[in-house]
Amino acid sequence: MSRDSAAHIVWHPTTVTKKDRLERAGHKSCILWFTGLSGAGKSTLANAVEYELHQRGLASYVLDGDNIRHGLNRGLGFGPDDRKENIRRIGEVAKLFVDAGVITLTAFISPYREDRELARGLVAAGEFIEVYVKCPLSECERRDVKGLYQKARNGEIPQFTGISSPYEEPDAAELVIESDAQTIRESVQTVLVYLEQKGII
Ligand code: ADX
Repeated sequence: MSRDSAAHIVWHPTTVTKKDRLERAGHKSCILWFTGLSGAGKSTLANAVEYELHQRGLASYVLDGDNIRHGLNRGLGFGPDDRKENIRRIGEVAKLFVDAGVITLTAFISPYREDRELARGLVAAGEFIEVYVKCPLSECERRDVKGLYQKARNGEIPQFTGISSPYEEPDAAELVIESDAQTIRESVQTVLVYLEQKGII
């Protein structure tokens, strides 16, 4: 993409605004950014939180790495540049969802701190809630829900996070969920209480 590719494109303000949408929804919108190793429980927790939000009649949506990589991000691999582009696009999509008034839950390994910070910077302060789903590699490997750790150990999957590719732990996540020490129920409660305390729901 050329540096000036956006030079002759002018932003068109929308007639219906984010404020209008939030007034109708009756709650605020935000990004709940779940990050952690494969198998840590990001998708499980994101889906369980969304279930509760949905039960309460709130607008929500889960963007999940494994699903998005089948469509929007099909063709992106797992080298640092592709992971960066994966996260950049998801950050932009999540930003659109926030503008649409939706509580957006993203479940991506998002192993690089810098990439997560870029996503954070796309929305207003307080709208990006980083949720570190913390789980020891040994436990993720023991679970090996998709059988991918075994394949990575066998050398069948290159650049596998935690094995042959890094995971940079968040150092200032809004929430840390220890998925090997807390039940799903407790973890969902932690997230919901946070959203209530911040006046989002
Ligand atoms: S990210 O690093 O770019 O954020 P993302 O969350 O989209 O990753 O995708 C991770 C999922 O892809 C994993 O849960 C796993 O099922 C699958 N996967 C396939 N190859 C790899 C790999 N080399 N490293 C990590 N996950 C992989």
